[in-house]
Amino acid sequence: MHSLLRRATHVIALVGLVAAAPAHAHETLKLDTPKPNLAPTPPMGWNSWNKFKCDVSEQLIRKQADAMAASGMKEAGYQYIVIDDCWQKSRDADGNIQADPERFPSGIKALADYVHSKGLKFGLYSDAGVQTCAGRPGSAGHEFQDARQYAKWGVDYLKYDWCNTGTRNAEAAYTIMAKALRESGRDIVLSICEWGINQPERWAPKVGHLWRTTGDIYDTWEGKKDWSMGMTNILDLQAERESVAGPNAWADPDMLEIGNGNMTTTEYESHFSLWAMLAAPLVAGNDMSKMDADTLRILTNKDVIAVDQDPLGKPGRRTLKEGDLEVWVRPLQGGDIAAVLFNRSKTPADMKLTWDRLSLPVDKKADIKDLWSKKVTKGVSGSYAGKVAPHGVIMVRVTPQR
Ligand code: GLA
Repeated sequence: MHSLLRRATHVIALVGLVAAAPAHAHETLKLDTPKPNLAPTPPMGWNSWNKFKCDVSEQLIRKQADAMAASGMKEAGYQYIVIDDCWQKSRDADGNIQADPERFPSGIKALADYVHSKGLKFGLYSDAGVQTCAGRPGSAGHEFQDARQYAKWGVDYLKYDWCNTGTRNAEAAYTIMAKALRESGRDIVLSICEWGINQPERWAPKVGHLWRTTGDIYDTWEGKKDWSMGMTNILDLQAERESVAGPNAWADPDMLEIGNGNMTTTEYESHFSLWAMLAAPLVAGNDMSKMDADTLRILTNKDVIAVDQDPLGKPGRRTLKEGDLEVWVRPLQGGDIAAVLFNRSKTPADMKLTWDRLSLPVDKKADIKDLWSKKVTKGVSGSYAGKVAPHGVIMVRVTPQR
């Protein structure tokens, strides 16, 4: 009791001290330029990290841009090509950030121009610390200089990480970069990546266009490995949480693993469906130059993408969990409703979507489209039943008859 009290007093004293300390001049900056309207729906693109980690080069990025443009990904709505960590090597004598000259000999501007020539947008990665997570130079103390450089190069999107940030305050650190980007003279999406550890839902919606909610995903159904988690572990961290996300402010449960090979086709369909229910940014993380038919079919399922990109921008929620069986529901613009019946078990399950989950009167007739089989059933009322594959989903769009 005594020591608890002592510890509490200690904490209060500490908080007082922090509050009273004069803030670093930069850290008091206000965001007076409004956030540009660059992500009215969740951003869609590709990022190098999940598949390639630090093995990035200008050839790889060009190849991915070619593939995005030629494969049908671009038509499906994907537009950002984002180089994650390890493109940067050093700073010059004036502090200007330099790309790795061996891996990017033509420079970042030429690469951005190439991506733009394909009708796509170009993104880079940096970090609010002195170094990135992979130990490359971070942007701490160079925020305005870096933002100006990005604008000159033609960068459209910045993923901004949180490694090696010491005692920095996250809201303040991200606000500085937001301000730098907004004053850079170019429209640049800000993707906040502090892994959900500083209550980003309280401040990130006004600072960035999207914010990570968890540690990193890795290509597995369920599991934990250092800082990374499987797809269902990440999902559980979003479930039953009332999301504050909406247009230009999306909660990001991390990038997609579809096509990376360690989950089954059924599991990847579940991954894509559930990310769409969450209104998650859809950032592919595979090698788009080598996609098999299932990978492309999943990533370009236009009915599922339409749910993700629904203009109402209201994320869905898990509304029922009975052991391994779950029902997810998401309201859509115009009165349609998206629903997912999710079977996490290892055996097929007979599941039912009942109208009370959809807040529809039991006798209300609705047309139902199965978004994977494409089967349409008209005039259904009361409930919609189906057999859900192990680790699979049935995802439907419900259109109540008017
Ligand atoms: C962190 C991020 C990842 C990735 C790596 C790069 O772990 O959360 O998404 O950007 O850093 O080093």
